[in-house]
Amino acid sequence: MKREPLNIGVMGSGRGSNCQSLIDAIAAGRLNARIACVIADVPDAFILERARKHGIPAFYLDPAPFKTKLDGVAETRYIETLRAHGVQAVALAGFMRIVKNGLLAAFPQRVLNIHPALLPAFPGMDAWKQALDYGAKVAGCTVHFVDAGTDTGPIILQRAVPVREDDTSATLHARIQEQEHLAYPEALQALAEGRLSVQGRRVIIQAPGA
Ligand code: GRF
Repeated sequence: MKREPLNIGVMGSGRGSNCQSLIDAIAAGRLNARIACVIADVPDAFILERARKHGIPAFYLDPAPFKTKLDGVAETRYIETLRAHGVQAVALAGFMRIVKNGLLAAFPQRVLNIHPALLPAFPGMDAWKQALDYGAKVAGCTVHFVDAGTDTGPIILQRAVPVREDDTSATLHARIQEQEHLAYPEALQALAEGRLSVQGRRVIIQAPGA
């Protein structure tokens, strides 16, 4: 029996290429989901434009008064908007704020993030640049459940890329983003099919159709 599509709320602050990869994966039948709404904390974030182009409800929601976190009345406003659109899982896609317990409690084990490094190496900002500056030979991306820490939640999946000797921050980030665009739909499809289970820090992914 075919499952109902998973209702995803996407939250971002920037270009939205990961959001686009979800839109494309849904259109291609690789992701059994529906993007119920897109929310940005930056008024002119391109992610909003991408969503509107595909007829997806898209909102700028003022995060004030906080600069680096989503909390207080702003957090409530985000949760209410996600709920009003029937969101079952939240995909952070370049959302440049720390999310707090209110959002995590509203969507328990249903808030995911994509990070441009092989966690636990290089959490935080500009992770691809951190990897390059550190001299790492392998970089990559991580899809993980979000917990109360910064980039510390249980890891769902990771994809690695080589770091080349002539890489710049831009070329390395572009190579990592190619993998992000495969990893995020794959992780969300596993969630949509009920194939993810969390045992302590370990996330078990059942094979499709198993
Ligand atoms: C990605 O590299 C993602 O890993 C990080 O922020 C970036 C967002 O890119 N969390 P985009 O807005 O999806 O293009």
